[in-house]
Amino acid sequence: MEETSNALVIFGGTGDLTKRKLVPALYNLKIEKLLSKEFFIISVGRREKSTEEFIEEMKLAVKEFSRTGFDEDIWVCLSERIYYYQLDFSGTDTYLEFENYLCNLEHKYNTKGNRLFYLAVSPEYFGIIVEKLHKYGLANENGGFKRVVIEKPFGRNLESARKLSKQITHTFGEENIYRIDHYLGKEMLQNIMVMRFANTFFEPIWNNKYIDNIQINSTETLGVSERGGYYEKSGALRDMLQNHLLQLLALTAMEPPARLDTESVRDEKVKVFKGLKIYSDEEVTQNVVRGQYDTSVNGEYVAYRDELRTANDSETETFIALKVEVENYRWEGVPFYIRTGKRMKKKSIEVIIQFKSLGKSLYLNELNESVPNQLIIRIQPTEGIYLRFNTKKPGQENAAIPVSMDFCQNCEIGYKSPEAYEKLLRDAMLGEKALFTRWDEVEYSWKFIDAIGKAWANNIPDFPNYKANSYGPKAADDLIRRDGREWWNE
Ligand code: BG6
Repeated sequence: MEETSNALVIFGGTGDLTKRKLVPALYNLKIEKLLSKEFFIISVGRREKSTEEFIEEMKLAVKEFSRTGFDEDIWVCLSERIYYYQLDFSGTDTYLEFENYLCNLEHKYNTKGNRLFYLAVSPEYFGIIVEKLHKYGLANENGGFKRVVIEKPFGRNLESARKLSKQITHTFGEENIYRIDHYLGKEMLQNIMVMRFANTFFEPIWNNKYIDNIQINSTETLGVSERGGYYEKSGALRDMLQNHLLQLLALTAMEPPARLDTESVRDEKVKVFKGLKIYSDEEVTQNVVRGQYDTSVNGEYVAYRDELRTANDSETETFIALKVEVENYRWEGVPFYIRTGKRMKKKSIEVIIQFKSLGKSLYLNELNESVPNQLIIRIQPTEGIYLRFNTKKPGQENAAIPVSMDFCQNCEIGYKSPEAYEKLLRDAMLGEKALFTRWDEVEYSWKFIDAIGKAWANNIPDFPNYKANSYGPKAADDLIRRDGREWWNE
């Protein structure tokens, strides 16, 4: 296995992401023997704490969040390479001292000047930190690579994303910028391309001649927990749709790339983003539904407006459902229905491909209907593929009956897919960019999102409009029923 040799500097080391995702991912990479001896981690945070205290906190985090449980020996091996450094992100001299500290460790671990900076901070610090790294020479490419991983959201709209992009590109150059979208690290998202392009029986029918509609669902049972402060500024539109769900749409709708190299795949995804129909204000009203959760029927969950750090008259959406059109030859006339929300009845991420009905088919079911074929790509919590097709109902009659083939990838004994962050952290260390988003993908997705944001800005929503632990507002059901279809809730 290829090994990396680098320093990993995590800004936002005391935050939730570091605790829940990054350090547990590094721990699992250690188990898989995918971290080199020439490697160390500095967690940079604004809070005062010692390295020992930080390591103790991370040990608890790994025990709680690691997908493989906890092994003391492995943890000791990893924790010997973890350091904590307190830094005022906007400070000046502090960066000079920090560089000294970093250089000493680089010498000790022989990381050859290779630095991966991970910005796991609140978005308003992205620009400031990058600017300081530039100003104080920490990102100078004099020996060793200097890369930066940026968490989402990349901007708040097209304008701020452009400004941020300019700022970051000035320091790192596009080739060293890793815009992370953790959905792309999920095993089954990577599987979408394999399924489509490695199977003779899928690719020829993947178009408007055979597909009736596609649903992309990502529903969560959790609320915003302690992230109210961040969420108030983003909402479901920017937190989920602009990045994760549009990426999922792009992988489902893209043309086959000429090759599997990073840029060929990204080129095809960009074409999908370019093809998204940009809605007028009126079309937004017709095709996009927003929602915010209220208490649950039994009062078990509080309303969004009563969550920590949210306004009690908040207009932030925790749910969005929309009908999307991809304007190209392959998809003309095929609606994509996308739905995402917090505090919903079940946790699941799925892509549902609904094929066209055969209409007056020779074989109908007992209700005299022709049941269309369906393919479901299950991404979370179950990973797998479900295919529904018709067969003869056993017995004397010639009735058709729908049956299914269900492939469950993570039901296989002992199989646990790596967490998305394991894959992505390792890729960033190795310089693999295929699962990170390129600037033009971000740019086109903002164009689509901004049209919705602009239309919403002119209307005050009637919130809250759905109960926690439900399937979202009634208007979302009306949106799809208007077209004679239903959301897939099974
Ligand atoms: C994050 C969002 O990017 O993705 C969260 O900020 C959301 O609000 C999370 O809960 C969902 O990720 P996953 O992997 O649990 O589907």
